[in-house]
Amino acid sequence: MDAIVRELQPEDVPACERILLALPEWFGLPESNATFIESLRRLPALVAVIDAEVAGFLAIETQNAVSAEIRIVAVKPALHRHGLGRALVSRARDWCAERGVRWLHVKTRGPSTPDPYYERTRSFFAAEGFDPLFESLKLWGPADAALVLVRCTALSLAKTLSDSLRSPEIRQSLHRPETLSLVGGRATGIVRPSALHGHTGVAIGGRGVGGLGG
Ligand SMILES: CC(C)(COP(=O)(O)OP(=O)(O)OC[C@H]1O[C@@H](n2cnc3c(N)ncnc32)[C@H](O)[C@@H]1OP(=O)(O)O)[C@@H](O)C(=O)NCCC(=O)NCCS
Repeated sequence: MDAIVRELQPEDVPACERILLALPEWFGLPESNATFIESLRRLPALVAVIDAEVAGFLAIETQNAVSAEIRIVAVKPALHRHGLGRALVSRARDWCAERGVRWLHVKTRGPSTPDPYYERTRSFFAAEGFDPLFESLKLWGPADAALVLVRCTALSLAKTLSDSLRSPEIRQSLHRPETLSLVGGRATGIVRPSALHGHTGVAIGGRGVGGLGG
């Protein structure tokens, strides 16, 4: 299955609306759907296209110079688990990184409001490297827990690394035959090569450099 991800054009919006209507377990409130559709007319957005048909879409709302939100992401139900959501989020991360936006967040239903459908949504975001920041029962009300998930864009990790490498202590340590230990993207200490089972290079805690490629 060949899919391309490109910027959304105004003529894509009706197809996006049909995708929302096909996902009533997630998007069952007409007034919320109208807000989502309206957002596609003003926000930067992407579509995943297969055989000239829109199969998924994503909209990005920039909050400030370094932070943006995925306002909505949705894929045709028949095409779930074919990598389209991943392709859209990956392109969104690139879009952010190219503009100096270091943090990408998304709000979704939290575990305090049990919902098997949103459990899948949370699995998707976890697989895409988003970490839960906090859950709120105030944002959308006590019957609809809001979970805020966040991940850094590629630029964020690259910046953290380059900032770390600018520190005199870290630079000095590079002249010694040990490697740096970074936990959660921050340099925290020095690790002897033996601790890395013979590997050399920078050890990163948490998701690691592999997260850069996606
Ligand atoms: C969430 C959504 C956009 C994901 O898109 P998708 O194309 O189905 O997801 P992908 O195929 O790219 O999945 C990427 C990875 O996420 C994880 N994942 C996705 N769906 C999952 C599920 N139902 N259960 C567990 N893990 C899941 C998997 O690790 C998957 O990789 P794998 O298939 O190689 O194991 C799509 O399911 C959707 O439209 N859901 C309804 C709307 C929604 O929840 N939007 C977000 C609202 S905030």
